[in-house]
Amino acid sequence: MSDERISDRHLYRSGLTQKPLTLGDASIVTAGHDEISRQAGFRGTIRFAGTGNEDGRKAIEAINNFFWNSVEQEIFGRMYNVFECRNILAVPLPDEEGALDENYHGIAGQVSIYEEDEDFLHIVVFNVWPGWHYRGVGRKLLDKVIIECRKLQLPSIKLGTTNDNFPALYFYQRAGFVIEEVITEEVVRQHGGPPEGFAGIPVRDEIRLRLDIR
Ligand SMILES: CC(C)(COP(=O)(O)OP(=O)(O)OC[C@H]1O[C@@H](n2cnc3c(N)ncnc32)[C@H](O)[C@@H]1OP(=O)(O)O)[C@@H](O)C(=O)NCCC(=O)NCCS
Repeated sequence: MSDERISDRHLYRSGLTQKPLTLGDASIVTAGHDEISRQAGFRGTIRFAGTGNEDGRKAIEAINNFFWNSVEQEIFGRMYNVFECRNILAVPLPDEEGALDENYHGIAGQVSIYEEDEDFLHIVVFNVWPGWHYRGVGRKLLDKVIIECRKLQLPSIKLGTTNDNFPALYFYQRAGFVIEEVITEEVVRQHGGPPEGFAGIPVRDEIRLRLDIR
C-alpha cells in the first residue's frame, strides 16, 4: 500500500500497556501470548456498507484519511479508490466501550475488497481503529472476506503491504497468507524517497501476500 501516513499521530496502541503509539514510538518485542494485555473480544456485526449510505461513506472516508491520508491507494501497479471497491464494516454494539467515540464514526474497522476478473479477490485496504486493536476485529473482518471469496468461487485472496509493516505481516501470516512477491523499491519510486514507517523503518518495498482458498 502506498504510504501517505502521518508519522506523528497515534496509529497503534501498545499490546502491553494499551498506551497510544505513533509510528515512530512503536517497536517490536517478543512476548508470550499470555503477556499481551487482552481486552474483551469485539461484539458487533460485520457487514457490507450500503451503497449511498452517507454515514457509512463518512466512516470509510475518516478511517482511510486517518491511516493513509487518502481514499486512494496505489497498489498492484494501479490506483484504486476505496469507493470503487465493496466495503465491509465492523460495527460495534452501541453498549461496547468505544462504540460511541465520535472520532470512530460508529465503526471499529473497515476493509475494501475488489474482484480482479476471475483471478482473485483483492484486499485493497484493511483498517482497524487503534482503540480497537487486539480485540479480534481484524480477524473477524478477514473471516468475512474469506466467506465472500468462497461465495465468488475465486481461488485466492491477495493484498499488498510494505516492508516496515510488522503488525500487518504478523497478522496476515498468522492467518495463513504467504509472501508471493516483493516489489523492491516500489514505495521509494512512488514517493521519490523512502518515507518513515513503523518504528522508523524506511518504507521501501511492496510485499504481496496470497491466501489460497479451498
Ligand atoms: C493489522 C491490523 C489490521 C490488525 O487488526 P486487529 O483488529 O488489531 O487484529 P486482531 O485483534 O484480530 O489480531 C489478530 C492477530 O494480530 C495480532 N496483532 C494485532 N495488532 C498487532 C500489532 N500492533 N502488533 C503485533 N501483532 C498485532 C494480534 O495479537 C493477533 O495475534 P494472535 O493471532 O497471535 O493472537 C491493525 O493493526 C491495523 O489496522 N493496522 C493499521 C493499518 C494497517 O497497517 N493495515 C494493514 C495494511 S496492509
